[in-house]
Parts: sequence; C-alpha cells; structure tokens
Amino acid sequence: MARRTKIYEGKAKILYEGPEPGTIVQYFKDDATAFNAQKKDVIEGKGVLNNRLSEFFMTGLNQIGVPTHFIKRLNMREQLVRQCEIIPLEVIVRNFAAGTMAKRLGIEEGLQLPRPIVEYCYKDDKLGDPLVTEEHIAAFGWASQQDMDDILSLALRVNDFLSGVMMAVGIKLVDFKIEIGRVYDGDFQRLIVADEISPDSCRLWDIETGQKLDKDVFRRDLGSLTDAYTEVARRLGVMPKSSTPISKPKLIN
Ligand code: TYD
Repeated sequence: MARRTKIYEGKAKILYEGPEPGTIVQYFKDDATAFNAQKKDVIEGKGVLNNRLSEFFMTGLNQIGVPTHFIKRLNMREQLVRQCEIIPLEVIVRNFAAGTMAKRLGIEEGLQLPRPIVEYCYKDDKLGDPLVTEEHIAAFGWASQQDMDDILSLALRVNDFLSGVMMAVGIKLVDFKIEIGRVYDGDFQRLIVADEISPDSCRLWDIETGQKLDKDVFRRDLGSLTDAYTEVARRLGVMPKSSTPISKPKLIN
C-alpha cells in the first residue's frame, strides 16, 4: 500500500493528504500535552474517544446549519475533513469563569458570567498563544471585519448548541475553544468550524457534583483522563460499550 503524505503533525493530531483534492485525513493521537507542551503523556484510547466525540459534535453542528470541515469518520482514529485555510486564532467562548480568565481577573473559578464572553488568542506555540484584541487582528490582517462578525456569530451558535447538548446529559459547558477555517466555493469564500471539538478543548463539569470531565483532569492530576472522556462519551451515547478502547490485546490460551 502506498504511504500517505503527511501534511502536518501537531500535539494531538496528524494531518495527511486526503483521497481527493480539497480533503484531508485527520488522525487523532493518544498524546496529551498541557501548559504549552511542558507537561506531556500518552493516554491510551484518548485519540479514539476524541475522534468519536468530535464526529458527534461536528455532525450535530452540520445538521443545524453551522458549517464545519467534517465530512465523515473513516475508522477508529481518522476522519475525512474539508481542507481549509486556518485563521490563526484560537476562538474561546466562556460561560463560567475558569482557567486563565479566572486567574487574570482574580475571579473565583465557577462564577457564572453575565453573558458568554468571546476571547481571541493568536495561534503561536512559541509565544504561548497570547490573548489579542480585535484591534490586533485587524491591524495585522489576520481576519477582516466581515470575518470577525462571522466568527462571533459562529462561536455563539456553537456555544448554544454545545451548551444544550451538554446540559441534556447533566454536564455544564464552562468554556471551549474552536478554530475557524476559510474555504472557497467558486468566487465566494466562507468560514467553517475546523480542527476538533472534544474534551481536550472544552471545560466540562458535572452539573450535580462539579466533577471535571475534561483535560483539566490531566492538567491538574485529578485522576484518569480516559475515564473522564469515556464518561462524556457514555452519557452522549457516542461509544458503543463493545468498542471501549481501554483494554489492551489479551493473550488467548
Ligand atoms: P484558558 O482558560 O484560556 O486556558 P487554559 O486551558 O490554559 O487554562 O482556556 C479556555 C478554554 O479553551 C479551555 O477549555 C481550554 C481551551 N483552549 C484550548 O483548547 N487550546 C488553547 O490553545 C487555548 C488557549 C484554550
């Protein structure tokens, strides 16, 4: 079999050239990183869970008319997605104070915000993804004013969708990050949700107990990350029990 062409390898995913022009195969690794990759580990089964969960969220978004890059899942770890130009911004939506925002503003984690707050970080690992304003974005030409209007509306629609889906299974959507891509349809360009939506890029707390079911379990050493992600997948009905990825191959006597 011919080897595929690797386009890019990131911290949690590898991108390969897709079977047709304009497509990409997105492979989900088991690698977990935090604090700008200062903390690293391999969490067996994480890639399988995130592939399924991202498929679930992106499919739901496509169904309600929020365009995404997702085309179809190919296998346990790979999905076919539409190639796009990634806008170099991490678009963060927050419903409750947590993480860097709680720290920066001296707010207690868990405080409900008066309304969803959208923040932008410039995507640059070397700089640690610094927070930027729309002034920086316009001045450096990372996105146009029209793009920014579209990004804000996409981010808030994703927030409403994800918040509702999560609330239905007893989970509070504290915050999340999305990335936006630009695609060209003939003479027109439009923006779509790209990258991934998974517990790697969201904060998810159990509504009753406050238990963390996201990457903070890894960041803050709170227990098994696979158990947390499996619980999210189980509540959403995403992973059939038989394909739970945790078990290693067993010797048959
Ligand atoms: P934030 O509180 O700004 O950073 P940290 O996760 O370092 O405390 O993150 C807000 C949300 O966005 C959180 O759910 C994690 C997610 N996020 C990413 O997934 N990748 C990123 O590069 C950034 C900046 C945030």
